[in-house]
Amino acid sequence: MDQSLLELRNVSREFRIGGGLGLLSRKIIKAIDAVSFSMPDKPWITALIGESGSGKTTIARMILGLLEPTSGEILYKGKNVNEWIKRNKIEYLKEVQPIFQDPYSIYNPFYKIDRVLEIIIKKFKLASGRDETRDLIVKAMEDIGLRPEDLLGRYPHQLSGGERQRFMLTRILLIRPKLIVADEPISMIDVSLRAIFLEHLLSFKEKHSISCLYISHDLHTASYLADNIVILCYGRVVEDGPKDQIIENPLHPYTKLLISSIPVPDPKVRWAERIDLTSIESIKKFRAEKGCVFSGRCPNATENCLSETPQLKNIGSNRRVACHLY
Ligand SMILES: Nc1ncnc2c1ncn2[C@@H]1O[C@H](COP(=O)(O)OP(=O)(O)OP(=O)(O)O)[C@@H](O)[C@H]1O
Ligand SMILES: [Mg+2]
Repeated sequence: MDQSLLELRNVSREFRIGGGLGLLSRKIIKAIDAVSFSMPDKPWITALIGESGSGKTTIARMILGLLEPTSGEILYKGKNVNEWIKRNKIEYLKEVQPIFQDPYSIYNPFYKIDRVLEIIIKKFKLASGRDETRDLIVKAMEDIGLRPEDLLGRYPHQLSGGERQRFMLTRILLIRPKLIVADEPISMIDVSLRAIFLEHLLSFKEKHSISCLYISHDLHTASYLADNIVILCYGRVVEDGPKDQIIENPLHPYTKLLISSIPVPDPKVRWAERIDLTSIESIKKFRAEKGCVFSGRCPNATENCLSETPQLKNIGSNRRVACHLY
C-alpha cells in the first residue's frame, strides 16, 4: 500500500479529572479509545463525524501536536508527529494547519489583522521585503473574496465572525499547507456563508492539492464535501468508508441513525437546513461501560453486544465497520 499522508494507529487518549485531595473522586475519562484511520497522500477530504463529546477536538489537538496520545501513534508522512514537532515545529506547521471553530480565539486583539498575515509570511519565509509581502496578502485576500482595501488596517474585533473565519482561509492560502485540520469550521458562521466556506475548502483541494480533515457533527455538509467519512461514537470509530457508500448504504446502526436525521435528501436543497446531532434526544443516554459503546442506544443490541466490544472488520475492499451484526 502507498504511504498515507496521515495515519492514526490505535490512538487512545485518557483524561484524569477530579482528584486533588479527594483522591477517591478521581476519575479517568477515555476520550479516545484505540482509534485507527488514515488519509491517502493525494488531494483528499476526510470527514470525521461524531456528536458532542465523541472526541473530535481531542483527535484534532493530537494531530496538531497540542496534546499527546496516552497510547498509540499518529504518523504524518510516515513519521511520528510529536517527534517531528519536537525536532522542527515550523516545518510541521508548514505542512499541517488548523482552522478552529472560533477564529477569534487565535487572533491577538492588539494586532491589526494585517499583522497576523505579516507574521505568518515572516515565520514561514514566504516573501522577501515589504512590497512582496503586501502583494501576497492582497492577492490571497482577493482569492478568498475579501476586499483588502476594506479590511486591512482593522483590529480583529472590527471584523464580523464570518469575515474572521474567511480571513483564516487567507492564512491557509498563504501558507499552502498539505493538510488542514478543520474543527467545526462553519458552526459559528452564518448559514449563507457556510456554502461559500465549504466551496473554498473544495477549491483548495482541487486547485492547490490541499487535503482536509473536516471535523463536524454534521453529516449533511460532510456528505457534500468529503471523499470518505469516519464515524466516531463515544471515542471509537464505528464505521468508515467512501462517502457515497456510507450515505447510501450505512452499515452501523449508529450511522443509520445519523443518516436518518439528515433532513433533506434532495441534493439541490442541501443548504436549506443543517442537521444538529446534539438535538437528537438519544444523546441523553450515555456510553455503555462494557461491550459496544453504542449498545445502550442500539435497537439491534443483543447479549453479545453488552459484553463484547466489536472490533473494526473489513467489509469489501475499502469499508470497515465495528458491529456484531457483521
Ligand atoms: N482537557 C480535558 N480534561 C478532561 N476531559 C476532557 C478534556 N478535553 C476533553 N475532555 C473530555 O473528552 C471527551 C471528548 O471531548 P472532545 O472535546 O474531544 O469532544 P468533541 O467531539 O470535540 O465535542 P464537541 O462536538 O462538543 O466539540 C469529553 O467527554 C470531554 O469532556
Ligand atoms: Mg469539539
